[in-house]
Amino acid sequence: MIKDRFSRIGFILAATGSAVGLGNIWKFPYITGDNGGGLFVLVYLVTILFVGISVFIAESYVGYATHKNSVDAFETLAKSNKQAWKFGGFTFVTALAILSFYVVVIGWILKYMVVSITTLPQSVQEAQNMFLGMLKEDMFSQIGYFVVAFLIVAFIVSKGVKSGIERVNKILMPALFLLLIGMLLYSMSFDSFGTALHFMFYPDLTHFKSESILIAVGHAFFTLSIGMAAILTYSSSLETNTNIVKSSVIVALLDTLVALVAGIVIFTILFNAGFESSQGAGLVFITLPALFYEFGAIGNILSLAFFTALAFAGITSAISILEPAVRYVEEKKEVSRVKATYMISFGIALIGLATLLSNLTPFSNTLTFGDKNLFDWFDFISSSILLPLGGIVTALFVGFFIDQNHLKTNMLHYMSKGVYNTWLFSIRFIVPLGVGIIMIEKLGLFS
Ligand code: PHE
Repeated sequence: MIKDRFSRIGFILAATGSAVGLGNIWKFPYITGDNGGGLFVLVYLVTILFVGISVFIAESYVGYATHKNSVDAFETLAKSNKQAWKFGGFTFVTALAILSFYVVVIGWILKYMVVSITTLPQSVQEAQNMFLGMLKEDMFSQIGYFVVAFLIVAFIVSKGVKSGIERVNKILMPALFLLLIGMLLYSMSFDSFGTALHFMFYPDLTHFKSESILIAVGHAFFTLSIGMAAILTYSSSLETNTNIVKSSVIVALLDTLVALVAGIVIFTILFNAGFESSQGAGLVFITLPALFYEFGAIGNILSLAFFTALAFAGITSAISILEPAVRYVEEKKEVSRVKATYMISFGIALIGLATLLSNLTPFSNTLTFGDKNLFDWFDFISSSILLPLGGIVTALFVGFFIDQNHLKTNMLHYMSKGVYNTWLFSIRFIVPLGVGIIMIEKLGLFS
């Protein structure tokens, strides 16, 4: 049982730090843009409410009720077949797969912090050349930034829950909120602010596609960090006597708010320059830097603020992705946390390096399999298959395979009977069926 624990506020900040990540500031705005705005945002919000928060609470329960690493937590709570259920805790393997390419992106962000104060690209064309040049040709600086990013993440995790993870989140999360509030206030001074609001909140059917629903649901999992033992592991390091339901709702709320604010700020800047909403994945790395340039000196500051916020969001997520595996190795193999952290980080960095190389022209042929290179495969397999699968397993586990009386008694401390029954219905039926159908559709199993 872990002794090194979060304080209550430390947990809320750390779990929010985990949830608020590249998914909120980089991915959410561009997929909202590509999927037509308002209606997409609505589906995303409904999914967070009915699916995301339910799984979040279930995962928190497994960690909090046992205070153990994810594998032992599943084994302890299972009513029978303990040896088989243990594998429910091995979802941290998904986390490691995500970490390998997630840190590559943090490396790009660190580079763009430098670009912000040195040479912002002067046009979208130049910005595109700059980004693609880095991605496809510039091996050394990419590896350099990647290594720095990995060292930062590993260093924080090696310091432990209280003096590493909690301490960093207590500084970076408020700083991130301030940066975002500052950018939101600034964006209010533009005429396009209203257009951005309208785009994001007016449910318009024109650009909504059927796969938009699937994308919104998949993203709800990714953004809440559920389905891969991260929230479970953080909750296992939580002080007793904490209201896990209330904290889950707060985290989901903050995560959603950050995504919405990031979207509003980015679309205000985009529409101000007369751009279309659909800019694809290059929105943050290509379109924005070129637009920041137009603002003159204030553009450099704005750009630095933006990429710093993005770096903070990415780092606080990455540490939560590394933590579950570190906790497991630390507890099961009885090695020190420092050793566990650096061993795992080294292994994952090698895989990350392969995903990084797969984007580079000289290596892309060798590292492309079928229609995707290694980087895209890792992204696809983890978010489209492993995360939803992890979510379903956790929901079914808590809904059917643990002591239900115990669960009910515990949960009724935190929610009314009506809410409890709704929650139980959600994890027993809505999550497995809803998410199951999405996975089948997304993977095209029946087409
Ligand atoms: N939630 C993070 C984001 O939105 C990513 C993440 C996924 C973090 C899974 C932890 C676990 O970027």
